[in-house]
Amino acid sequence: MNRKVCVAPMMDCTDRHERFFLRLISKNVLLYTEMIVSEAISRGDKKKLLAFNLNEKPLALQVGGSSIKLLAEAAKTGEDFGYDEINLNLGCPSRKVQKNKFGACLMKEPNLVADCLTEMMNSCNIPVTIKTRIGYDDVEDYESLKNFIKILKKTGVKTFIIHARKAMLGKFTPKQNLNIPPLKYDIVYKLKKDFSNDVIVLNGGIDSISQIQNHLTKVDGVMIGRAAYHSPYFLAEIEKEIFNNYNIPSRTEVIERMFPYIKEETSKGTRLNQIMRHTIGLFHGQKGSADWKRYLSKNMCIREADLQKVNHIMDHIKNNGNATSLGR
Ligand SMILES: Cc1cc2nc3c(=O)[nH]c(=O)nc-3n(C[C@H](O)[C@H](O)[C@H](O)COP(=O)(O)O)c2cc1C
Repeated sequence: MNRKVCVAPMMDCTDRHERFFLRLISKNVLLYTEMIVSEAISRGDKKKLLAFNLNEKPLALQVGGSSIKLLAEAAKTGEDFGYDEINLNLGCPSRKVQKNKFGACLMKEPNLVADCLTEMMNSCNIPVTIKTRIGYDDVEDYESLKNFIKILKKTGVKTFIIHARKAMLGKFTPKQNLNIPPLKYDIVYKLKKDFSNDVIVLNGGIDSISQIQNHLTKVDGVMIGRAAYHSPYFLAEIEKEIFNNYNIPSRTEVIERMFPYIKEETSKGTRLNQIMRHTIGLFHGQKGSADWKRYLSKNMCIREADLQKVNHIMDHIKNNGNATSLGR
């Protein structure tokens, strides 16, 4: 699987509508779901939680939990639904997540994590990967991280996604935990040197092509979160510069290609704003961007897509903005 550029799992962001939209812009990035808790997969409406459009592939399911049995079940269920990879979340620092013993606090329990991963791998035939941080609280020395990865590697897991900042458990809000602990890319580069046969994907703060190109000289892949969500057409630049794919739809073509999807989804009861909210940043940095945002905020809550109106606003953007260029 090509993990050169991945779009990060993001709660309330990377749902199936966002992924469908991003896939129209980029054929080559690997997409991740939001974290889905293994208990919810076991007890909840599996179809509602896990079903996706085949166009979204390649697609990884991120799960959260620490029950060996439930995580193994979740991995198998994910495989049955057609996901290409199962990723275990070992990086989320929120208090709620800690209370339920999953996410970053599991860095304290490498043996339990290893048992979970072993059973997850036994229960499915697709790759099982992990996403973690470089450390937590005062545990931020390289040797601790190396030791953690060494224990997990024994299970046969070969792909490690590392958010290059530590997690402050219980002290910071989730937002602070995404911004305050400093990014330490060197630690991730060092990990790649020490685990040269494994796939190391670096995450955190990446928002330009030159950064991606630089990281890719030192690690196997990069994972991009907020930059891809807030400025989705960044993926067009990535297609061009990283994957040498110049066959990319313009921003307005992307929206046009959403029409059949919007029609189908709204006819099944999806609200228009559940889909269109993800497109707010599509014209980011373009002259027509404010028009697009205004249009969406005015019209997003109507039940059915008024395609004529969408066409009208897009014509406006085409005529007044630089909507088809590749710039962000
Ligand atoms: C709104 C939001 C939701 C997130 N949800 C998840 C999640 O469900 N699972 C996860 O592993 N990380 C989650 N993260 C962290 C991202 O995957 C990523 O590690 C982080 O944003 C750093 O990358 P970036 O600087 O490119 O955004 C979330 C981040 C944001 C901003």
